[in-house]
Parts: sequence; structure tokens; C-alpha cells
Amino acid sequence: MYDKQYSQQVLRTRDNDIIMNYDAVDELIIKHLDLASHHHVLEVGCDEGYTQRRVEPLVERVVGVDVNADAVAANPCADARVTSGPLLDFEDASFDRVYSSHTIEHIPELEQHFEEVARMLKPGGVYVAVYPWELFRGMAAMRAAMTLYGNPWRSREMHVNKLTPRKLDALLTNIPLSQSYSTLKFMNTPQWLSVWKKSV
Ligand SMILES: C[S@@+](CC[C@H](N)C(=O)[O-])C[C@H]1O[C@@H](n2cnc3c(N)ncnc32)[C@H](O)[C@@H]1O
Repeated sequence: MYDKQYSQQVLRTRDNDIIMNYDAVDELIIKHLDLASHHHVLEVGCDEGYTQRRVEPLVERVVGVDVNADAVAANPCADARVTSGPLLDFEDASFDRVYSSHTIEHIPELEQHFEEVARMLKPGGVYVAVYPWELFRGMAAMRAAMTLYGNPWRSREMHVNKLTPRKLDALLTNIPLSQSYSTLKFMNTPQWLSVWKKSV
């Protein structure tokens, strides 16, 4: 199970962070979401609402979900909810857009996560995810593991997936989401962004 201490509560307190340019990540996600004011949007792994609060003024509704109840309690956005795992309690085809930032590398039931995203997206809807480029699994979480546990190698308990766009493509063969775009961006450290479209 995901260690609930590992949250941007630990990381996002840093200004001018050496590993993550948070503004650049948020701006990239928002750009690729191609939002409209009538959109209903879901963020998976919303934490304290760092990205969600930037999306909120742009759309009709943005819901954030996270497994960390403390983070959800500290999230100032109008709609933030605790979830227990990849299965989410939303109707089929209820969102125009779904996004996640540095979350899918933490989800053991990754196929189920994508099945849920596909189920909840409207036909033609879009999922945008940012996730770390890693030479080995856990590389990008070593500092956090050091902070939390005093042991950088426990980062491998945090990042349970080492992902690339190609690997995700292979995972999604039976799921009605197709990757329409992916890019590797240097936002202080290398990070992948992928965009999937739900079939119409
Ligand atoms: C590294 S943090 C990123 C937080 C935030 N998205 C950001 O960019 O600042 C990963 C977040 O994903 C959440 N998380 C992990 N597994 C999850 C799951 N199965 N469903 C929802 N949230 C999850 C964690 O609690 C944590 O808040």
C-alpha cells in the first residue's frame, strides 16, 4: 500500500526546487488539457490541490481524489475526496478531462487505473499524465525516501512502476484509450508527459 506520508506535503514546501519545476509541470498539463469553461475535470492524486487550484477557475467543475486523507483535508478546492484505490465512485462518461501529476508511478493496479479513467471519460475525452523519466525505478524519489526514511533505496517502495510512453502503450492494448502525444521535458529533471484520447 502507498505510504501516505509520501506526498507533496513533504516536497512542495521547497521554493526553487532543484528536482521539480512545479510551475512548468502545472502549465504543461493545463496546456495539453485544452480546457473549456464547460468542462468537468478529474485530478487523480490531487494531494493538497496544487494543480487543482489552478484548474478550478478555468472550468465548470474539477474534482480531486487522493488516497491521502490528510492531504485531502488540507486541499482548499471546492471538491476534493479521499479514495481507497484505483476504483472510483463516479458515473460512466462523467468527465471531459482527467489528469494526474506524478501519480501513476505510485499505483500498483495500473491497468485498473487506466480502465477506470477510460470508463469515466466521455467519448473523445482526454487524459493527460506527467510521470518521471527514470534510469532505474525509484531514481526520482530518492531524495524523498532520504527525507522520510533516511534511506534513499526505499524510493523503490514509492515508485512501484518505472514508466515510458511505450510501456504504457503496451499496457493499454485492451483499453479504449489511445496515446495521441507524448514528450520528454526537462523541468529541472526529465519528465514524461503523455496524452490519451478516449475513442469516440
Ligand atoms: C508525488 S505526489 C504528487 C502530488 C500532486 N499531484 C503534485 O503534483 O504535487 C503523489 C500523489 O498521489 C497520491 N496517490 C498515490 N496513489 C494514489 C491512488 N491510487 N489514487 C489516488 N491518489 C494516489 C498520493 O497520496 C500523493 O498525493
